[in-house]
Amino acid sequence: MSKSSSKPRAKSTTSNSKPTSHAKKKADQYNDPSHNYLQYWDGRDYEHAAEEIAIKRLLGAKTFKNAADIGGGYGRLCVMLRKYADKVTLAEPSKQQLDIAKDFLKNYPDVKRLLTQADDLKFKDKSLDLITVIRVMHHLPDPQKEFKEFARVLSDDGIIILEVANYAHGRNRLKHLLKGKKLPAEPVDIRSEVNRSKDEIAFVNHNPKTVQRQLAHAGLKVEKVLSVSNLRSPALKKIAPKGVMLVAERILQPTLARTYFGPSIFFLVKKAK
Ligand SMILES: C[S@@+](CC[C@H](N)C(=O)[O-])C[C@H]1O[C@@H](n2cnc3c(N)ncnc32)[C@H](O)[C@@H]1O
Repeated sequence: MSKSSSKPRAKSTTSNSKPTSHAKKKADQYNDPSHNYLQYWDGRDYEHAAEEIAIKRLLGAKTFKNAADIGGGYGRLCVMLRKYADKVTLAEPSKQQLDIAKDFLKNYPDVKRLLTQADDLKFKDKSLDLITVIRVMHHLPDPQKEFKEFARVLSDDGIIILEVANYAHGRNRLKHLLKGKKLPAEPVDIRSEVNRSKDEIAFVNHNPKTVQRQLAHAGLKVEKVLSVSNLRSPALKKIAPKGVMLVAERILQPTLARTYFGPSIFFLVKKAK
């Protein structure tokens, strides 16, 4: 989703330029009938493939009993998750997304659709051995309550794949360096002024080091990191063949992980022992 347009309107969210800790409200922003998240993916084959590469890499040959894609939208990633888990639940707070999923996943009737949001999950304690949370963190300025929920529903040997919208990416790092400024530890509101004034849905980028601390606070530990969508650039996508970009992406994901280069960071998370 672009940061300035075609985003779902918020029914209720902060309109401050700085995100603040606040009581969680109903996360039903993706019910906006004027926003088509399915269409958002048109022309984003590279990003979709880059995310699938990252998930495959982090899951390796592991298999699972009970997986849930939390904030899974219309089920974009549930199709691949079925290859790894006996049961897959699309856990999503937007009824509109779940309705779209009914059609999108029509050939996969075994994927369960569940209306629930991340700070109050309708799963029993320790009932999931795989949780994926992709492209949701940018709507969670203060994810502490959600992280506690993930820790509660995760089995002792289960894993979470958490995608973090990354403020500390290469371009921002360079910008801050040139201005002699430190990267902020707090999440940064990246909505345009117009969207802020229209009270658009919260849209933040996080500092991955802060997210690691927040995970630790919830009893969770990052075990692996990947830097994802490293070549996300409309100009590059126009000139470079997708196959070539994906070969490079495959090489760059682990190589650039330590520097948090890409706009999207994938964490493999487990319970801290
Ligand atoms: C950008 S979409 C990503 C959907 C899907 N994960 C994907 O990558 O295709 C963000 C999703 O997060 C969901 N969402 C927003 N706030 C949430 C919350 N507090 N708990 C769970 N999901 C949330 C939205 O309803 C929406 O479906």
